[in-house]
Amino acid sequence: MSAVLEIEGLRKTYRSRKRGVRRALDGFDMRVEAGQVHGFLGPNGSGKTTTLRTLLGLIRPNSGRMAILGQELPHALPAVAGQVGAIVESPQFFPHFSARDTLGLLAQAGELPKQRVDEVLELVGLRDRAGERVKTYSLGMKQRLAVASALLKNPKLLILDEPANGLDPGGIREMRGLMRELSENGMTVVLSSHILGEIQLICDSVTIISLGRRVAFGPVEQVLAAHSQGSVRVRLEAVGDLPQAADALTRAGVRVTTEPDHLLLSGVDKPATVSRLLAEQGLYVSELTPVAVDLESVFLELTATAPVPGQHRQVDQSAKVDQAGTTGGWGA
Ligand SMILES: Nc1ncnc2c1ncn2[C@@H]1O[C@H](COP(=O)(O)OP(=O)(O)OP(=O)(O)O)[C@@H](O)[C@H]1O
Ligand SMILES: [Mg+2]
Repeated sequence: MSAVLEIEGLRKTYRSRKRGVRRALDGFDMRVEAGQVHGFLGPNGSGKTTTLRTLLGLIRPNSGRMAILGQELPHALPAVAGQVGAIVESPQFFPHFSARDTLGLLAQAGELPKQRVDEVLELVGLRDRAGERVKTYSLGMKQRLAVASALLKNPKLLILDEPANGLDPGGIREMRGLMRELSENGMTVVLSSHILGEIQLICDSVTIISLGRRVAFGPVEQVLAAHSQGSVRVRLEAVGDLPQAADALTRAGVRVTTEPDHLLLSGVDKPATVSRLLAEQGLYVSELTPVAVDLESVFLELTATAPVPGQHRQVDQSAKVDQAGTTGGWGA
């Protein structure tokens, strides 16, 4: 497989007199193969938008390597720009223009054939309202217009930051169908999202970022399999004892996620160890079941140490990345 997007060791540091040094990207790696729908996941402030803006030449990185379609950036940006369609954060459109006028102008500026406007309006399901002014559009309709504008030049690589933002469930499903269709026609799609159930349905592969570093990557099923091993659900006779149980297990080195009526443990070799540890605390389990994890629980486990956005960070994440580097993986 060939890589459409490659990032190695990308660093971006913001400095301010008040807040000191903030490492938005701290040696970040990413690789996306041709024809994939790739999910780019991470908590608020983990570095997704910074990565995408850096790729598009809007931010200058401190160091690291980036390539799109095999061409090194930022040097080759003018050469590859025509093959990359992107929306990063909410794009702004002229409120008094219709969607058709907006896309018509963009097509003209990009020297694209006029009929492409109707094609993309059809693709994103906006054709019926295309003559109305943008200021009368709902959030979801504006989002569709943004995707239409990114699709105009029929790019080889489509980059979408939060494309499901503002879409209703029907709209999300349509967007999912569209992403599939585009990738079946050979387009590579990178999308960031916080809707993890959606990402699990839509994406072939994912990259998970936390504190500016990659903590997991690879085909979705591999990432899930790597984290399903040793995942156990524990219920206790008394729900009120869950915090004490979580404490005891955490102290024993087990990774614990607390749910309202049970605990989800990961990295458990022998379930018997769990029941023994809890019995030593005078706590008795009523259920101990191996579980297959979903992307949301993997995400929460891997990004659990992420700070509140805006908080100064000085956490040494090296141990975590070593461990996570072994998860997922692209094979040969
Ligand atoms: N211009 C800037 N000046 C200073 N710090 C910045 C700047 N832009 C981003 N940051 C910081 O860099 C970090 C990464 O931000 P980024 O916008 O890339 O996160 P994100 O993953 O896109 O988050 P979200 O999910 O909220 O969109 C954050 O700590 C943010 O505060
Ligand atoms: Mg962002």
